[in-house]
Amino acid sequence: MTVEYSKKKEGTYEDIIRQAEALVDNTLEKYTNLSNILSLLKYNLNLFWAGMYWVSGDELKLGPFQGRVACTKIKRGKGACGKAAEEAKTVILKNVLKFPAYIACHSETKSEIVVPGMIGKEVVFVIDLDSRKYNYFDETDEFYLSKVADIMVKVLN
Ligand code: SME
Repeated sequence: MTVEYSKKKEGTYEDIIRQAEALVDNTLEKYTNLSNILSLLKYNLNLFWAGMYWVSGDELKLGPFQGRVACTKIKRGKGACGKAAEEAKTVILKNVLKFPAYIACHSETKSEIVVPGMIGKEVVFVIDLDSRKYNYFDETDEFYLSKVADIMVKVLN
């Protein structure tokens, strides 16, 4: 990725974060605010799919999302989402086909990033973003998406 492209990406995320903070309205349902934030991510980053999974015991359950119908339940530890939830760490798959435990909800997805949303030391959800392009996500996405996750955590409080 060129320096120019990465700078452009930073600007895009700064806009997303500004808009997300402006859109959150605590007189609305939590799902409304979260859906709006996911819409900002999907359309500003040109993604195939953008969603959240709630961590609930040994399972992850599909939360709000923007895009096609997706897997509704994932076992903790399985797939990119289950791994991010289990390890409380961001997972970046540059090429999903090279990740043996990958759970393919959509054949269009070529790369993916999963970022945990934490309350204290507990992972309460993961943000899952899918791209139609290989190598779409990197550390810049990880950095800004952890800020987006913090905005989502505030929505839940
Ligand atoms: N690919 C994910 C499953 C969720 S879908 O991409 C929406 C995974 O491996 O956990």
